[in-house]
Amino acid sequence: MLNSFNKYSKVNSITLHSDAEQASVYVAQQIAELIRQQQEQGKPAVLGLATGNTPKRVYQELVRLHQNEGLSFHNVISFNLDEYYPICPDNDQSYTYFMRKYLFSHIDIKSHNIHIPHTDFPPHRILQYCKDYEDKIVSFGGLDLQLLGIGRNGHIGFNEPGSTFDSTTRLVNLHSLTRQDAQTHFGTIDNVPLQAISIGIQTIIQAKKILLLALGERKSEIISKALKGEISTQVPASILQTLSQVEYILDRDAAALIQD
Ligand code: F6R
Repeated sequence: MLNSFNKYSKVNSITLHSDAEQASVYVAQQIAELIRQQQEQGKPAVLGLATGNTPKRVYQELVRLHQNEGLSFHNVISFNLDEYYPICPDNDQSYTYFMRKYLFSHIDIKSHNIHIPHTDFPPHRILQYCKDYEDKIVSFGGLDLQLLGIGRNGHIGFNEPGSTFDSTTRLVNLHSLTRQDAQTHFGTIDNVPLQAISIGIQTIIQAKKILLLALGERKSEIISKALKGEISTQVPASILQTLSQVEYILDRDAAALIQD
């Protein structure tokens, strides 16, 4: 770790690492520590998980800790942040496929403890489905830890600019920048779904611990806005400035605009 400081925010901490590798390993260690602590107390660890490029190396490290250092996931209950709507879980662009590929198929998590929004159903079922997803998180006592990436427009989950801070799980319209950033995975912009199901900002901020990981120069501008800018629904991640349970984990490039 290079540095830990909270110059911009009175309440939360920023942990700065020299590169993406170190930052990712650090995040994996935080997650592993929580899982082990909960095991020692005979409790489940309720994890909110993210997809995208940012957490890939974190998941790789968790898999290594499982395979080489005996970390068990038998007490883990997971809830993913979001999923495109509509998409079949077997589609290789779905987040169900992503989570299986990078994490779940390599660890001993019980399949009935995995929750990822499934979105291969008709519109009239959405409201009830979202309510059930939200209720399920509450039924496990809420999220012990939420892992977040950040979109270049400041989204967390798929809570796009304009999302209210009291939003819960719901169907959302994807922002043009979000769809543009997803284009490389889907081939063409027309293949990128227009909508997604995402847990809400309120759902996220109720987590007992929140780790926001941002890597690389392309995140530096939004990190500066989210951490130093005004708290506004136009930059959904800005609400995190107000919360004491938040830790931002940044590599040097993502932190480029917030360092002197
Ligand atoms: C993914 C998610 C998104 C991503 C964000 C950053 O489940 O909820 O908020 O964390 O779009 O994506 P990457 O990591 O691909 O830059």
